[in-house]
Amino acid sequence: MIQEIQQHLKEVEAFAPTSIEEVEAFRIKYLSKKGILNGFFKAFKEVPGDQKREYGQAVNTLKTKLEETVKHWKETLESQEEEAGIFGDLTRPGNPITIGSRHPISIVRNRIVDIFSTIGFTISEGPEVEDDWHNFSALNLPEHHPARDMQDTFFVQTDPSILLRTHTSSVQVRHMEENKPPIRTISPGRVYRNEDISARSHCFFHQVEGLYIDKNVSFADLKQTLQYFTEQMFGKSEIRLRPSYFPFTEPSAEVDVYWGLETETDYRMTKGTGWLEIMGCGMVDPNVLENCGIDPEVYSGFAFGMGIDRIALLNYQIPDIRMLSENDMRFLSQFKSIL
Ligand code: DAH
Repeated sequence: MIQEIQQHLKEVEAFAPTSIEEVEAFRIKYLSKKGILNGFFKAFKEVPGDQKREYGQAVNTLKTKLEETVKHWKETLESQEEEAGIFGDLTRPGNPITIGSRHPISIVRNRIVDIFSTIGFTISEGPEVEDDWHNFSALNLPEHHPARDMQDTFFVQTDPSILLRTHTSSVQVRHMEENKPPIRTISPGRVYRNEDISARSHCFFHQVEGLYIDKNVSFADLKQTLQYFTEQMFGKSEIRLRPSYFPFTEPSAEVDVYWGLETETDYRMTKGTGWLEIMGCGMVDPNVLENCGIDPEVYSGFAFGMGIDRIALLNYQIPDIRMLSENDMRFLSQFKSIL
């Protein structure tokens, strides 16, 4: 009987299957309940006493060898199969890859950044949780100044001198505090206002602030820069500046671009005038320069600020600002951009 076991051991050692099915058949033949190995175990009681020891050792050796062999071939053949699955049929169509799309806010933001980068503007960023100084006081909006009411503000309950920035003009202050002229920078970012949410306004949105400080900067430079921007951004270069008021600029203006009145949508968007308001701007108030450690006797500059969401709504004819933050895939997947 021991010879029989030895014979099987040789057979097991020589086993070289080519498929997982073969391994399985081999396993059943030897290791199943009614398999050969169990047969040997059952026969143990019939082995004469003086041979029991040798017999037991031989059966155990066979058992270990069998288990190792089955495990080895199973793993080898399975990994071969996996590899064949990946590289096997090269004519097989590839698995589809879902490519994400950029958010319309990012597309417009990147476009604006791109346009100003080509004329030497850097990008600067600042915190969304801001202090009173950078959001208001330094921008010529001291405490109790009535113009603070222009921007309904979210304050931090435990410390009213900390707030969610209401505009990216706060970054203009930070940038001037940390850099010496000449300064050319744009600051895109998210801002917050305590406003009712509707189709036209939200409690958070996005702005780009622009700042240019150097010797002899004039209002003409401002107008030229904005004209270049509207030409690049909208393909429209006719702009007009309407006198306006911002505490941090003097003089201040509202910028309209001539959109045209060619389609019904143009009529609706421009309320029949052909003109579309796109941003606020002005010459930086000397008080602001001084607050930020820049000598207004030597330097002058201009600033402007625009809403990214508003431009995205215009560009893509999106009827409701809330769609920009609802994360609806059916909406978002419509936007494609390489920028
Ligand atoms: N900060 C203004 C706002 O949020 C926008 C603005 C207007 C920024 C004029 C400027 C500017 O830098 O010169 O309404």
